[in-house]
Order: sequence, then C-alpha cells, then structure tokens
Amino acid sequence: MKKVALLGGSFDPVHNGHVAMADAAIENLGVDEVWFIPSRKTPLKNHMLTSPKHRLNMLRAVCREHPKFKICDVELKRNAESYTIDTVRQLKDLYKDIDFTWIIGADQARQFQAWKEPEELLRLVRFAVADRDENLKNLTLPDGMVVMPMEPVEVSSSEIRDGKKLNLMPESVRQYILEQELYMPKWIQCQMDPNRFAHSCSVARLCRELAHAHGLDEHKAWLTGLFHDIAKDLPKEEQAKWVKAVFPPSALQEHDAIWHGYAGSEIVKRVYGIYDPVIQNAISNHVKGTSYDPYAMIVFIADKLDPLRGYDSSALYQACLHDLYNGFLLVKAENKAYLEKEKKQNGHS
Ligand SMILES: [Fe+2]
Ligand SMILES: [Fe+2]
Repeated sequence: MKKVALLGGSFDPVHNGHVAMADAAIENLGVDEVWFIPSRKTPLKNHMLTSPKHRLNMLRAVCREHPKFKICDVELKRNAESYTIDTVRQLKDLYKDIDFTWIIGADQARQFQAWKEPEELLRLVRFAVADRDENLKNLTLPDGMVVMPMEPVEVSSSEIRDGKKLNLMPESVRQYILEQELYMPKWIQCQMDPNRFAHSCSVARLCRELAHAHGLDEHKAWLTGLFHDIAKDLPKEEQAKWVKAVFPPSALQEHDAIWHGYAGSEIVKRVYGIYDPVIQNAISNHVKGTSYDPYAMIVFIADKLDPLRGYDSSALYQACLHDLYNGFLLVKAENKAYLEKEKKQNGHS
C-alpha cells in the first residue's frame, strides 16, 4: 500500500522548516511521498493570505527540487475555511488505496483539542508529531498520534514575510518572491525608520516611472529604488564591516555618508538574494552618481528628486523623463551646487 505523509499549511511562503518536516517524514516514517496541502482560509490565523497562485508557484518551485514532494490542492478548490477533518474525509474517499499520515508540530499537537472534530480525526487518520525530543517529552499524546523526533528549523512564514531569516527558505522560493515583488515593501520596512521607509517607497515608484519612460526594465528599477538605502540606518561600524568585506581600503577613506551605498550593494546580495550586478552597481553608486549605467542614473535621479525631500523638483524631473542622460547631468550639477552651498554655510570651505 502506498504511504503518503500530508503536510497542511498556508505556505505563505513555504520555507526550510516545512522542507525539513517533509524530509523527516520520508526518512523516519518511510513514506513514499509527501503531499503539501495549501489552505484556502485558515481558521486560526488572521493575516490576509497571499493569492493561491503565488503560494502554489512557490510550492511548485520546491517540488521541482524534491521528486517525492507533491502538491494536493483539495483545500484550495473548496471555497470554504480549510478544516482538516473535511480534507481527511475527502482524501480518504478519493484515495482508498493510500495509507495517510498527517504531520503536525508539537505546538499543533498541544492545540489539537481546539481543532474541528478531534476525536473523529484521530479515528480517521494517523498523526505524526514532528519536533525535537525535548518538546515532545512533556506532551501526552492521544491514541492515534505517534512521535517523529526531528531537529526543526527555527523559522516561521510570518518571520519571512517580515523580512527576517531570509536565508531559511529555498533559494528558488526567494527568487520567486523577488521576481513577483511579494512581501515587499515589508521586507525593508523593518530595516529603517518610518521616514526613510516612505522615502524608499517613493524612490522605488519614481524609478519604475523613469524606467517606463525610457523603455527599461521597470521591475529591476523598482527593486533598485526600494533597496537603495537598505544600509543607511545601520550603525556606522556595521556599515564599515560590510564595506571592508568587499571594497578596497580606499572606500573607507571616503566620507562616511557614502558608505551606506557600498554596504547596501553587498547586503542586497547576501541577505536578500539580489544577485543582479546592475542593481548592485546602481546602489553602490547612488550617493555620488558615479556610474553612467542607466539604472544607476535612474536611482540617483529618483533619490535626489524625491518630492518627500520637500522642494519642488518637478521641472528637473520632467527633464529626466524626457532625456535620461542630460537630466542626470543636470541633477548631478544641481546636487553639487547644493552640497557646496551647504559646506559654505557650515563654514567648511
Ligand atoms: Fe542613500
Ligand atoms: Fe535615499
């Protein structure tokens, strides 16, 4: 008889914790396949779920890398809250020749009595509780539940939605999230103060508009704008560490207001998985406007002409929409004049 482990969840997004549970089911329970069952609406959760299309595509990316992982979309097809009891009944009805085990974590096992029809559920299907030994020790399991000791990966989907522990998801999922602009701008919100966050969103919007006007990749420009100040609110010592790691020592000799561009170009790669050298170059050069790559010119312009800076930049912005290169030179000249004036006022010249 074919043995299948079932793993329910919103998978918003799927992460390494889910993958570890599925791997453990194959290794420790000897199942032939693991079926991921994405839920439509989850009774005990209250955040707005990402669309089924995206959640499915992220699961598909994982299944492509794990031949024994499959997707079962019965809950998505049912236009109602996703109760496990309904799913179990449906699957047992559809697949009479499969031996199912439903995988849950120790936390879920503790809440099990709050599930719909717990006694009936235990009668219908075997449950395996996956967690580390110490979490399973103080748990009295009802008949029908077995333990599956494993070392869980400490990450939750909500942490990933908040831009934390981004290395604890499959790379293919991270790339899909970036491509589809999911969970953003939330990913950068937790890295900066509210004003800088508003500025970053505004710059991203202008970048997209400028890219559109000049027939460039709007998504790439938007990402560049959104992440351009990702390092700016980090302590200077931390910025310096990032700069030191990849740039020649001369970079740290420059004014420390410039460091966040260099640091940001490395952070987007290491933390967020943005490997596009064009984006890295644009972020690296955004403070001084030292690169003539179109995306670097765009982010420099958008950063300097952001209306949230509080002065009327509309004429210059129109010039940039019309002619990127000459607009960039104008903005650069204006920025230089402004910095010199500031220096004079501060008595440094
Ligand atoms: Fe900046
Ligand atoms: Fe900025």
